[in-house]
Amino acid sequence: MMPVPRMKELLRERGQMVESYLATCFDGRPIPQRLKDSMQYSLQAGGKRLRPVLCLSTAAMCGLPLQDTLPFASAIEMIHTYSLVHDDLPAMDDDDLRRGKPSNHKAFDEATAILAGDGLLTDAFLMMCRSPLAPPRVLRAVGELALAAGSSGMVGGQEWDMIFTGKADIALEELKGIHAMKTGALLRASCVCGAMLAGASDEELAAIGSYGAALGVAFQIADDILDVVADTATLGKPVGSDVVQGKKTYPALLGLEKSRALAQDQAEVAKAALAAFSGPEAEFLLALAEYTVNRAA
Ligand code: IPE
Ligand code: IPE
Ligand code: MG
Ligand code: MG
Ligand code: MG
Repeated sequence: MMPVPRMKELLRERGQMVESYLATCFDGRPIPQRLKDSMQYSLQAGGKRLRPVLCLSTAAMCGLPLQDTLPFASAIEMIHTYSLVHDDLPAMDDDDLRRGKPSNHKAFDEATAILAGDGLLTDAFLMMCRSPLAPPRVLRAVGELALAAGSSGMVGGQEWDMIFTGKADIALEELKGIHAMKTGALLRASCVCGAMLAGASDEELAAIGSYGAALGVAFQIADDILDVVADTATLGKPVGSDVVQGKKTYPALLGLEKSRALAQDQAEVAKAALAAFSGPEAEFLLALAEYTVNRAA
Protein backbone atom coordinates (compact mmCIF):
# COMPACT_ATOMS: atom_id res chain seq x y z
CA MET A 1 0.00 0.00 0.00
CA MET A 2 1.20 3.52 -0.78
CA PRO A 3 2.67 5.47 2.19
CA VAL A 4 0.25 8.01 3.71
CA PRO A 5 2.26 11.18 2.80
CA ARG A 6 2.39 10.16 -0.88
CA MET A 7 -1.34 9.30 -0.84
CA LYS A 8 -2.11 12.75 0.61
CA GLU A 9 0.12 14.44 -1.96
CA LEU A 10 -1.67 12.69 -4.84
CA LEU A 11 -5.09 13.43 -3.35
CA ARG A 12 -4.16 17.11 -3.11
CA GLU A 13 -2.65 17.29 -6.61
CA ARG A 14 -5.62 15.60 -8.26
CA GLY A 15 -8.09 17.58 -6.17
CA GLN A 16 -6.41 20.78 -7.40
CA MET A 17 -6.77 19.67 -11.02
CA VAL A 18 -10.51 19.36 -10.42
CA GLU A 19 -10.69 22.71 -8.62
CA SER A 20 -8.95 24.51 -11.48
CA TYR A 21 -11.26 22.90 -14.00
CA LEU A 22 -14.33 23.87 -11.98
CA ALA A 23 -13.12 27.46 -11.52
CA THR A 24 -13.78 28.29 -15.18
CA CYS A 25 -16.57 25.84 -15.95
CA PHE A 26 -19.34 28.46 -16.23
CA ASP A 27 -17.33 30.94 -18.28
CA GLY A 28 -18.86 32.36 -21.43
CA ARG A 29 -22.44 31.39 -20.56
CA PRO A 30 -25.23 33.87 -19.74
CA ILE A 31 -25.79 32.83 -16.12
CA PRO A 32 -27.27 35.35 -13.63
CA GLN A 33 -24.28 36.63 -11.65
CA ARG A 34 -25.82 35.84 -8.24
CA LEU A 35 -26.53 32.23 -9.25
CA LYS A 36 -23.02 31.84 -10.68
CA ASP A 37 -21.51 33.29 -7.49
CA SER A 38 -23.62 30.94 -5.38
CA MET A 39 -22.58 27.85 -7.39
CA GLN A 40 -18.91 28.85 -7.34
CA TYR A 41 -19.10 29.72 -3.63
CA SER A 42 -19.87 26.10 -2.77
CA LEU A 43 -17.66 24.57 -5.46
CA GLN A 44 -14.62 26.56 -4.35
CA ALA A 45 -15.20 26.30 -0.60
CA GLY A 46 -12.76 23.37 -0.31
CA GLY A 47 -13.68 19.77 0.30
CA LYS A 48 -11.66 16.62 0.02
CA ARG A 49 -12.56 16.03 -3.66
CA LEU A 50 -12.61 12.32 -2.93
CA ARG A 51 -15.25 11.39 -5.53
CA PRO A 52 -13.57 13.02 -8.54
CA VAL A 53 -10.19 11.73 -7.42
CA LEU A 54 -11.62 8.20 -7.25
CA CYS A 55 -12.98 8.62 -10.78
CA LEU A 56 -9.67 9.94 -12.13
CA SER A 57 -7.75 7.19 -10.38
CA THR A 58 -9.83 4.13 -11.34
CA ALA A 59 -9.65 5.42 -14.93
CA ALA A 60 -5.88 5.82 -14.62
CA MET A 61 -5.60 2.31 -13.15
CA CYS A 62 -7.39 1.04 -16.28
CA GLY A 63 -5.04 2.97 -18.57
CA LEU A 64 -6.66 6.36 -19.24
CA PRO A 65 -4.70 9.66 -18.89
CA LEU A 66 -6.05 11.90 -16.10
CA GLN A 67 -6.76 14.74 -18.50
CA ASP A 68 -9.28 12.64 -20.44
CA THR A 69 -11.40 11.97 -17.34
CA LEU A 70 -11.18 15.47 -15.90
CA PRO A 71 -14.51 16.86 -17.25
CA PHE A 72 -16.44 13.79 -16.09
CA ALA A 73 -14.71 13.66 -12.70
CA SER A 74 -15.36 17.39 -12.17
CA ALA A 75 -19.03 16.84 -13.02
CA ILE A 76 -19.23 14.27 -10.21
CA GLU A 77 -17.92 16.90 -7.78
CA MET A 78 -20.66 19.27 -8.99
CA ILE A 79 -23.31 16.65 -8.21
CA HIS A 80 -21.77 15.98 -4.80
CA THR A 81 -21.63 19.72 -4.06
CA TYR A 82 -25.28 20.17 -5.02
CA SER A 83 -26.19 17.33 -2.64
CA LEU A 84 -24.40 19.16 0.19
CA VAL A 85 -26.07 22.52 -0.58
CA HIS A 86 -29.50 20.89 -0.43
CA ASP A 87 -28.59 18.65 2.54
CA ASP A 88 -27.87 21.78 4.63
CA LEU A 89 -31.17 23.53 3.85
CA PRO A 90 -33.53 24.27 6.76
CA ALA A 91 -36.03 21.74 5.38
CA MET A 92 -33.35 19.04 5.53
CA ASP A 93 -30.47 18.98 8.05
CA ASP A 94 -30.65 22.72 8.77
CA ASP A 95 -26.88 23.12 9.14
CA ASP A 96 -25.32 26.58 8.95
CA LEU A 97 -21.68 25.64 8.30
CA ARG A 98 -20.19 23.71 5.40
CA ARG A 99 -16.58 23.30 4.32
CA GLY A 100 -15.60 25.82 6.99
CA LYS A 101 -17.85 28.57 5.66
CA PRO A 102 -21.49 29.61 6.12
CA SER A 103 -23.74 27.16 4.27
CA ASN A 104 -24.93 28.31 0.86
CA HIS A 105 -28.40 29.37 2.09
CA LYS A 106 -26.74 31.44 4.84
CA ALA A 107 -24.24 33.13 2.52
CA PHE A 108 -26.98 33.76 -0.08
CA ASP A 109 -30.62 32.88 0.59
CA GLU A 110 -32.76 29.75 0.50
CA ALA A 111 -34.17 30.27 -2.98
CA THR A 112 -30.72 30.90 -4.42
CA ALA A 113 -29.32 27.82 -2.63
CA ILE A 114 -32.10 25.65 -4.08
CA LEU A 115 -31.46 27.02 -7.55
CA ALA A 116 -27.68 26.73 -7.17
CA GLY A 117 -28.20 23.04 -6.38
CA ASP A 118 -30.48 22.65 -9.40
CA GLY A 119 -27.91 24.43 -11.59
CA LEU A 120 -24.98 22.34 -10.33
CA LEU A 121 -26.88 19.10 -10.89
CA THR A 122 -28.10 19.91 -14.38
CA ASP A 123 -24.89 21.57 -15.58
CA ALA A 124 -22.97 18.50 -14.40
CA PHE A 125 -24.63 16.50 -17.18
CA LEU A 126 -23.62 19.13 -19.72
CA MET A 127 -20.05 18.78 -18.54
CA MET A 128 -20.15 14.98 -18.79
CA CYS A 129 -21.35 15.31 -22.40
CA ARG A 130 -18.19 17.29 -23.11
CA SER A 131 -15.93 14.37 -22.22
CA PRO A 132 -13.31 13.90 -24.96
CA LEU A 133 -13.93 10.15 -25.19
CA ALA A 134 -15.78 7.65 -27.37
CA PRO A 135 -19.55 8.45 -27.08
CA PRO A 136 -20.64 4.86 -26.20
CA ARG A 137 -18.31 4.87 -23.18
CA VAL A 138 -19.49 8.30 -22.08
CA LEU A 139 -23.15 7.32 -22.49
CA ARG A 140 -22.69 4.22 -20.39
CA ALA A 141 -20.95 6.17 -17.64
CA VAL A 142 -23.57 8.95 -17.68
CA GLY A 143 -26.31 6.34 -17.21
CA GLU A 144 -24.42 4.77 -14.31
CA LEU A 145 -23.95 8.13 -12.62
CA ALA A 146 -27.58 9.20 -13.13
CA LEU A 147 -28.75 5.96 -11.56
CA ALA A 148 -26.47 6.47 -8.56
CA ALA A 149 -27.31 10.14 -8.02
CA GLY A 150 -31.06 9.91 -8.58
CA SER A 151 -34.13 8.59 -6.83
CA SER A 152 -32.93 5.00 -6.48
CA GLY A 153 -29.51 6.21 -5.28
CA MET A 154 -28.43 9.33 -3.41
CA VAL A 155 -31.74 11.20 -3.61
CA GLY A 156 -33.65 8.09 -2.52
CA GLY A 157 -31.22 7.59 0.36
CA GLN A 158 -31.71 11.19 1.46
CA GLU A 159 -35.48 10.58 1.50
CA TRP A 160 -35.00 7.48 3.70
CA ASP A 161 -32.72 9.55 5.95
CA MET A 162 -35.46 12.17 6.37
CA ILE A 163 -38.18 9.53 6.92
CA PHE A 164 -36.24 7.90 9.76
CA THR A 165 -34.97 11.11 11.41
CA GLY A 166 -36.39 11.49 14.89
CA LYS A 167 -38.40 8.28 14.56
CA ALA A 168 -38.30 5.06 16.57
CA ASP A 169 -35.68 2.38 16.15
CA ILE A 170 -34.10 1.28 12.94
CA ALA A 171 -32.56 -2.14 12.24
CA LEU A 172 -28.85 -2.27 11.38
CA GLU A 173 -29.60 -3.72 7.93
CA GLU A 174 -31.97 -0.81 7.20
CA LEU A 175 -29.35 1.71 8.29
CA LYS A 176 -26.74 0.04 6.10
CA GLY A 177 -29.19 0.28 3.20
CA ILE A 178 -29.68 4.01 3.77
CA HIS A 179 -25.93 4.61 3.94
CA ALA A 180 -25.41 2.57 0.78
CA MET A 181 -27.95 4.72 -1.05
CA LYS A 182 -27.33 8.22 0.26
CA THR A 183 -23.52 8.06 0.21
CA GLY A 184 -22.39 4.67 -1.09
CA ALA A 185 -24.07 4.93 -4.48
CA LEU A 186 -22.26 8.09 -5.58
CA LEU A 187 -18.89 6.91 -4.28
CA ARG A 188 -19.37 3.56 -6.00
CA ALA A 189 -20.39 5.24 -9.25
CA SER A 190 -17.37 7.57 -9.05
CA CYS A 191 -15.16 4.48 -9.13
CA VAL A 192 -17.17 2.54 -11.73
CA CYS A 193 -17.55 5.48 -14.12
CA GLY A 194 -13.80 6.07 -14.25
CA ALA A 195 -13.31 2.42 -15.18
CA MET A 196 -16.15 2.56 -17.73
CA LEU A 197 -14.62 5.60 -19.40
CA ALA A 198 -11.35 3.68 -19.66
CA GLY A 199 -13.12 0.74 -21.32
CA ALA A 200 -12.55 -1.73 -18.46
CA SER A 201 -13.72 -5.34 -18.80
CA ASP A 202 -16.82 -6.66 -17.01
CA GLU A 203 -14.63 -8.44 -14.43
CA GLU A 204 -12.70 -5.25 -13.76
CA LEU A 205 -15.94 -3.27 -13.45
CA ALA A 206 -17.35 -5.79 -10.96
CA ALA A 207 -14.22 -5.64 -8.81
CA ILE A 208 -14.04 -1.84 -8.90
CA GLY A 209 -17.78 -1.68 -8.12
CA SER A 210 -17.27 -3.86 -5.03
CA TYR A 211 -14.39 -1.64 -3.96
CA GLY A 212 -16.51 1.51 -4.37
CA ALA A 213 -19.59 0.12 -2.63
CA ALA A 214 -17.63 -0.99 0.45
CA LEU A 215 -15.63 2.23 0.53
CA GLY A 216 -18.90 4.19 0.29
CA VAL A 217 -20.46 2.55 3.33
CA ALA A 218 -17.19 2.87 5.27
CA PHE A 219 -17.11 6.55 4.35
CA GLN A 220 -20.57 7.30 5.78
CA ILE A 221 -19.88 5.32 8.97
CA ALA A 222 -16.72 7.42 9.40
CA ASP A 223 -18.77 10.58 8.73
CA ASP A 224 -21.21 9.53 11.50
CA ILE A 225 -18.29 8.89 13.87
CA LEU A 226 -16.68 12.26 13.08
CA ASP A 227 -19.97 14.00 13.88
CA VAL A 228 -19.49 12.65 17.43
CA VAL A 229 -15.73 12.83 18.01
CA ALA A 230 -14.31 15.61 15.81
CA ASP A 231 -14.34 19.37 16.40
CA THR A 232 -16.10 21.90 14.21
CA ALA A 233 -12.91 23.74 13.21
CA THR A 234 -11.30 20.57 11.84
CA LEU A 235 -14.45 19.23 10.26
CA GLY A 236 -15.68 22.50 8.73
CA LYS A 237 -19.28 21.56 9.55
CA PRO A 238 -21.24 21.51 12.82
CA VAL A 239 -20.42 18.54 15.06
CA GLY A 240 -23.13 16.94 17.18
CA SER A 241 -25.69 17.82 14.53
CA ASP A 242 -26.83 14.19 14.12
CA VAL A 243 -27.71 13.75 17.82
CA VAL A 244 -29.54 17.09 17.98
CA GLN A 245 -31.72 16.08 15.07
CA GLY A 246 -32.22 12.46 16.06
CA LYS A 247 -30.45 11.12 12.96
CA LYS A 248 -30.09 7.39 12.60
CA THR A 249 -26.34 6.78 12.67
CA TYR A 250 -23.94 3.91 13.39
CA PRO A 251 -22.68 5.43 16.68
CA ALA A 252 -26.30 6.02 17.83
CA LEU A 253 -27.21 2.42 17.06
CA LEU A 254 -24.04 0.55 18.01
CA GLY A 255 -21.72 2.89 19.92
CA LEU A 256 -18.37 4.22 18.74
CA GLU A 257 -16.24 1.12 19.17
CA LYS A 258 -18.44 -1.21 17.13
CA SER A 259 -18.94 1.50 14.52
CA ARG A 260 -15.19 1.88 14.12
CA ALA A 261 -14.79 -1.88 13.76
CA LEU A 262 -17.52 -2.06 11.11
CA ALA A 263 -16.00 0.83 9.16
CA GLN A 264 -12.61 -0.92 9.23
CA ASP A 265 -14.27 -4.19 8.08
CA GLN A 266 -15.72 -2.37 5.08
CA ALA A 267 -12.33 -0.82 4.27
CA GLU A 268 -10.84 -4.32 4.28
CA VAL A 269 -13.61 -5.56 1.96
CA ALA A 270 -12.83 -2.62 -0.35
CA LYS A 271 -9.11 -3.38 -0.40
CA ALA A 272 -9.65 -7.11 -0.97
CA ALA A 273 -11.82 -6.31 -4.01
CA LEU A 274 -8.77 -4.84 -5.78
CA ALA A 275 -6.66 -8.00 -5.37
CA ALA A 276 -6.38 -8.50 -9.14
CA PHE A 277 -4.88 -5.03 -9.73
CA SER A 278 -1.31 -3.90 -9.18
CA GLY A 279 0.86 -0.84 -9.80
CA PRO A 280 0.91 2.70 -8.34
CA GLU A 281 -2.75 3.51 -9.10
CA ALA A 282 -3.95 0.36 -7.33
CA GLU A 283 -1.63 1.18 -4.41
CA PHE A 284 -3.16 4.65 -4.25
CA LEU A 285 -6.72 3.26 -4.20
CA LEU A 286 -5.80 0.89 -1.36
CA ALA A 287 -4.40 3.82 0.62
CA LEU A 288 -7.57 5.83 -0.09
CA ALA A 289 -9.73 3.03 1.35
CA GLU A 290 -7.68 3.17 4.53
CA TYR A 291 -7.85 6.99 4.60
CA THR A 292 -11.63 6.80 4.32
CA VAL A 293 -11.92 5.29 7.78
CA ASN A 294 -8.93 6.93 9.45
CA ARG A 295 -9.38 10.51 8.25
CA ALA A 296 -9.61 13.37 10.76
CA ALA A 297 -12.15 15.35 8.68
C1 IPE B 1 -19.91 14.80 3.15
O1 IPE B 1 -19.05 14.37 2.13
C2 IPE B 1 -21.26 14.23 2.93
C3 IPE B 1 -21.32 12.79 2.99
C4 IPE B 1 -21.75 12.10 1.99
C5 IPE B 1 -20.91 12.08 4.17
P1 IPE B 1 -17.49 14.72 2.19
O2 IPE B 1 -16.96 14.42 3.55
O3 IPE B 1 -16.81 14.07 1.03
O4 IPE B 1 -17.51 16.29 1.99
P2 IPE B 1 -16.42 17.26 1.34
O5 IPE B 1 -16.64 17.15 -0.14
O6 IPE B 1 -15.06 16.80 1.75
O7 IPE B 1 -16.78 18.62 1.85
C1 IPE C 1 -25.35 13.45 3.69
O1 IPE C 1 -25.13 12.79 4.88
C2 IPE C 1 -25.22 12.62 2.55
C3 IPE C 1 -25.50 13.38 1.32
C4 IPE C 1 -25.98 12.76 0.31
C5 IPE C 1 -25.27 14.82 1.18
P1 IPE C 1 -24.93 13.79 6.09
O2 IPE C 1 -26.11 14.66 6.26
O3 IPE C 1 -24.45 13.00 7.26
O4 IPE C 1 -23.70 14.66 5.54
P2 IPE C 1 -23.05 15.86 6.35
O5 IPE C 1 -22.59 15.29 7.66
O6 IPE C 1 -24.09 16.93 6.51
O7 IPE C 1 -21.89 16.27 5.48
MG1 MG D 1 -28.10 14.64 5.80
MG1 MG E 1 -26.06 16.80 6.74
MG1 MG F 1 -22.93 13.58 8.58
